[in-house]
Amino acid sequence: MKERPYMKRNTLKITLGSLGIAAMLALAGCGDSGSSPKTAEGEPKPSTEGGAKKDYTVGFSQIGAESGWRSAETKSVQDEAEKRGVHLKFSDAQGKQPNQIQALRSFITQKVDVIFLAPVVETGWDPVLREAKRAGIPVILLDRGVKVSDDSLWTTELTSDFVEEGRRAGEWLGKKMGGKGNVVELVGTVGSSPANDRHTGFMKAMEAFPGIKITHSQTGDFTLVKGKEVMEAFLKSDQNIQAVYAHNDEMGLGAIQAIAEAGKVPGKDILVVSVDAEKQGLEAVRDGKINCAVECNPLLGPGAFDAAEAILAGKKVEKRIISKEEIFDSTNVAAALPNRKY
Ligand code: AHR
Repeated sequence: MKERPYMKRNTLKITLGSLGIAAMLALAGCGDSGSSPKTAEGEPKPSTEGGAKKDYTVGFSQIGAESGWRSAETKSVQDEAEKRGVHLKFSDAQGKQPNQIQALRSFITQKVDVIFLAPVVETGWDPVLREAKRAGIPVILLDRGVKVSDDSLWTTELTSDFVEEGRRAGEWLGKKMGGKGNVVELVGTVGSSPANDRHTGFMKAMEAFPGIKITHSQTGDFTLVKGKEVMEAFLKSDQNIQAVYAHNDEMGLGAIQAIAEAGKVPGKDILVVSVDAEKQGLEAVRDGKINCAVECNPLLGPGAFDAAEAILAGKKVEKRIISKEEIFDSTNVAAALPNRKY
């Protein structure tokens, strides 16, 4: 097996501050990987900017486009590749793990230099990640985590603290409800790390509010359409719902529609708390339809390429690089909205 520079172990710290600055720079870019500079042979043109290694190829296996959040993450990665002149091979898995595994195998066959993987679910990655490791290709996890027998199968993870997001949502809602009432939960994709962790964090917060019951909990697969369908079913079967906890804004927005169509006022008759704080979610907070949105940052492109270049230069990167995030409600949403980029 050929020795690659990233196999050597030095130390590099990527700060959250640098991630934030890079994220802002990424937003100034546009277009996608297809328009990266190419040689006459169609090969990516090495960039001379900055002195860092630019003539490398990244294979990015994305989950799909189930939410505005997901599309913002894709754009962040594509824009950053464009900006740096890195060749990006992009694969949309349409929400299916077998498609992601197939994409990874194709990236390995094509001998990409680095793989970015946003894994749809946590488990089932051991064999293909072992194949990547055997081929000497480092894997960078984007936003979601994996559960594998050996954590050396992936190099670093750029993510959010999903447990903390759930805990913040629960704490905010528990206080708002005065510690009593019935909550329904719209769960994300079954088996995904944000669905598992946001549930765990929320339940942890609920320990302080024994008077609150989670009366229904069902997946809406992180989409508006399914979130709406599930909320409609909850409302048909139960007249005694005081609040909804949606694992993302899309499902929260679907729940709002279902609540309104059932003749109730979202945000008043039934409280709504969601995660992501994407622009549409914040607009709903401004309009009083979502009461609280917990932030989850999708702008991971700049940090991902910083990590890729550090790894390719033989430097060690932190195992988990966690975004700094906030929480929005009626008290601070007006200030946040004009700057919202996703
Ligand atoms: O993995 C992050 C989650 O995935 C986001 O909260 C959600 O909107 C997306 O689909």
